[in-house]
Amino acid sequence: MTTTQPTPFDAEIKARHRKLWAAGDYPAVADLITPLGRRLVDALHIKSGEKVLDVAAGAGNVAVPAARAGGHVVATDLTPELLETGESRHGDLGITWRTADAEDLPFDDDDFDIATSCVGVMFAPNHQKCADELVRVVRPGGRIGLINWTPTGFIGELFGVMKPYAPPPPPGAQPGPLWGSTDHVRSLFGDRVTDHRFTTTTVKIDEFSDGAAFRDFFKAYYGPTIVTYRNIADDPTRVAELDTAIAELADRYFTDGHMEWEYLQAVLTVV
Ligand SMILES: C[S@@+](CC[C@H](N)C(=O)[O-])C[C@H]1O[C@@H](n2cnc3c(N)ncnc32)[C@H](O)[C@@H]1O
Repeated sequence: MTTTQPTPFDAEIKARHRKLWAAGDYPAVADLITPLGRRLVDALHIKSGEKVLDVAAGAGNVAVPAARAGGHVVATDLTPELLETGESRHGDLGITWRTADAEDLPFDDDDFDIATSCVGVMFAPNHQKCADELVRVVRPGGRIGLINWTPTGFIGELFGVMKPYAPPPPPGAQPGPLWGSTDHVRSLFGDRVTDHRFTTTTVKIDEFSDGAAFRDFFKAYYGPTIVTYRNIADDPTRVAELDTAIAELADRYFTDGHMEWEYLQAVLTVV
């Protein structure tokens, strides 16, 4: 196994990201999208006894159903606070909860039968490093399962709306929603994977009455939105602009009293 020491600059970026995801109450947001974890586990046909690594696992959206399916699961994330929530909610499932950077996984080559990431690795700045690490830790013939928000779906568009108000991303960071494009995923993994199974579909969200209710929830609970508002907190005009822009965007995604959030699911077999 090769490990690289983070530079002080990288370490500062990781600390900033950890703080971002610890802000608010991400597990409350994850509760909106629990179907995604179950769908990914079903698509991977996880069998009893298989070794599963959930990367950028948060509070265990995939790790939990993977363990219930009989997998021996290691849940990793940059943000220990989220892993602690997962462990306190699901301590009985035998999951190993471990802090780790998706760009530098602390595991041996070929260590796992399956690696998963649900709207997780898409938030690490270096996409190629994440893809390289996923391939490295999965044995030949093993599977990689990913769910990522698409650039053209609601969450992809939300990041576009927040961008002009957000703190600048680290230099060289690629936009997360690129992971929602099949071409991008193909180019990251190249010929190291085969048997690509891509599905673009949506998850139904019916917890909000309208765009303003959605905005207020994300403003209170979702780290990236909280950090964006903090960045403009001393400018009431910009805060009001962003309030309107998020509510209007969310309203556009309401049909028959619910929203549909689009994502790409990718299941790949390691060569
Ligand atoms: C939107 S949450 C998804 C969490 C979980 N997979 C789920 O479906 O609820 C994104 C997660 O990525 C994690 N994350 C961001 N950058 C990371 C990195 N470089 N390495 C590992 N985890 C990272 C965050 O801490 C956060 O838990």
